[in-house]
Amino acid sequence: MPFRDMEHSLVLIKPDALKLSLTGYLFSTLSEFHTGLKFAAIKVVHVTQMLAEEHYAEHKGKPFFDALLKYIRGKEHYQDAVERRRVIAVVYLGKNAVQKIREICGPTNPHEARETAPGTIRALGTLVPVKNSGGEIIDNRVDNLIHASANREEAEREIKLWFKPTDIMPYMRAYDTDSSRRHYYYKDGQLLTKETPGAIRFLAPDYLAWRTDLEALRLLARGKEASCNLNAVVAKYLVNRRKDE
Ligand code: GTP
Ligand code: MG
Repeated sequence: MPFRDMEHSLVLIKPDALKLSLTGYLFSTLSEFHTGLKFAAIKVVHVTQMLAEEHYAEHKGKPFFDALLKYIRGKEHYQDAVERRRVIAVVYLGKNAVQKIREICGPTNPHEARETAPGTIRALGTLVPVKNSGGEIIDNRVDNLIHASANREEAEREIKLWFKPTDIMPYMRAYDTDSSRRHYYYKDGQLLTKETPGAIRFLAPDYLAWRTDLEALRLLARGKEASCNLNAVVAKYLVNRRKDE
């Protein structure tokens, strides 16, 4: 597998970039011609609350967490157009992919990006004042157009969160996979191994899954602690299933 030892990174083209029609510009900026990086996978995702919470789990409890979830779910930029709420998730592959993409994105805060890193993608972003009911500015929403994995470990966690192995072309998959040996169902926050009315079957024997997900499911099904929680495994199997979120 010649690509196996290269670095992977997850990029999310956020709803503000879609609304501003910057998608083509971002793809062009990150293109193989400019960066040497290759696409390994790409998909358009209607982001669920579960996926957003897992993606930004490190920010849980911070004052801006709820606003951040609304933003990544497209609820800020497409308030009256649920059908347009989406992000484009891309896996890039290549030498030094994580650092290369972070440099092209620039600092988190668009104002800082304009000051210190003009020409980066986030220099095109903006801060939107968040006001309380009295009209007082209490925070700024950070509309910074793009997400990029911060390091190799985050890239692995994020790619496994957003993509099933079969979403990624087989020569460009970086992480171990295995075939499920049993059926797994999800209902109301619970993992089930038997069919139950209203439960969603997300894995069945012979379905290819991330090996770490299967290890986690085996433990969780026995009521034990696992390396990740159930939602981090299930979220990718539930996205794009329904219209109504
Ligand atoms: P991502 O690529 O989106 O993960 O950005 P990052 O890695 O450069 O920054 P970080 O993971 O620390 O923050 C994630 C997102 O939370 C940012 O992209 C911002 O949209 C938002 N954010 C971060 N810090 C703040 C803050 O202090 N206030 C507010 N309102 N939003 C923040
Ligand atoms: Mg981050």
